[in-house]
Amino acid sequence: MSHNTFGHLFRVTTWGESHGPALGCVVDGCPPGIRLTLGEIQSWMDKRKPGQSRFVTQRREDDIVKILSGVMFDDDGETMITTGTPISMLIENTDQRSKDYGEIARRYRPGHADFTYDLKYGIRDYRGGGRSSARETAARVAAGAVARKVLPDLVVRGALVQIGKHKINRENWDWAQVDQNPFFCPDQQMVPVWEEYLDSIRRAGSSIGAVVEVVADNVPAGLGAPIYSKLDQDIASLLMSINAVKGVEIGEGFASAELSGEENADEMRTGNDGTPLFLSNHAGGILGGISTGQPVVARFAIKPTSSILTERQSIDADGNNVEVRTKGRHDPCVGIRAVPIGEAMVACAIVDHYLRDRGQTGRLR
Ligand SMILES: Cc1cc2nc3c(=O)[nH]c(=O)nc-3n(C[C@H](O)[C@H](O)[C@H](O)COP(=O)(O)O)c2cc1C
Repeated sequence: MSHNTFGHLFRVTTWGESHGPALGCVVDGCPPGIRLTLGEIQSWMDKRKPGQSRFVTQRREDDIVKILSGVMFDDDGETMITTGTPISMLIENTDQRSKDYGEIARRYRPGHADFTYDLKYGIRDYRGGGRSSARETAARVAAGAVARKVLPDLVVRGALVQIGKHKINRENWDWAQVDQNPFFCPDQQMVPVWEEYLDSIRRAGSSIGAVVEVVADNVPAGLGAPIYSKLDQDIASLLMSINAVKGVEIGEGFASAELSGEENADEMRTGNDGTPLFLSNHAGGILGGISTGQPVVARFAIKPTSSILTERQSIDADGNNVEVRTKGRHDPCVGIRAVPIGEAMVACAIVDHYLRDRGQTGRLR
């Protein structure tokens, strides 16, 4: 299976399977001299790890990151300094239950990657989905934690804005709320609604889709390229690479189809300090593939978890009609744990473009 790498100058390769001994990544191209601690990386891992509430999978993984290469320790014994060589990070899998997956060894879960993996490779690690499992995304979050340190002023935050038909009220948006509830929800009033709703989904052995929004503040103006490496294009590509993502928007996204030119144009003035001032941000911080200096805003839709307890019609590897009911521990709404993953992908895309911009223009933005 090829194509396990993304990025150009901040280049990330992930490896490992859901039910193997470990998984991880190699970050190649991180500049030398970046200072970071394991605790800083771990804090992002902790946001994504499973088992933190009844609304996510009960698989128990500590997701402790070990750094194998690419750093030297400072005299305090805690701060690591990147050396410019490949940073290899390893995360052990400690809570596999492969027997849960025996029944789907030859049966294809509708909506999952089982059918296409068999079709393409002729062999499939059915235990937890192997490489198609979102366990792989733990490694992306570790890479994203390193990316954030390359551009320390960059602030990339994500929030869940919709579960099923229940959308947040954007007027209640409060970033301080996001870490105060199990959903990464910025609207305090929506939390009890989602709680009740997801409890009913969970009890029914079903699942539901969601929408995640990621906002990047302090993105330097001038990152990106106008044609084949638009910043929005690369962000969309990385967000779409996350398991179960079925739609990506930048700025107004699909809603811009309903706007007039007057409504959609982000008018400009020169601000009091002499710098350009945008009066709105329908563009999501990117014009012509290049960042404007406004917040970069991306949204992605996540489909409902396909592994559900309800029996669904499918076929097996021999072409027999079968019924599939997926046991095991699954997220009833994968959108929740996708929030830190989306943040990591946006951080990696922006930092990759930052290094590419510096390489081409020689400017320190
Ligand atoms: C955080 C996260 C957790 C996930 N957990 C599960 C799960 O427990 N069961 C499942 O069937 N799919 C889960 N998925 C989705 C599958 O990995 C995904 O649907 C599958 O690989 C097929 O790929 P596709 O949906 O992108 O086509 C999860 C996705 C994410 C982002």
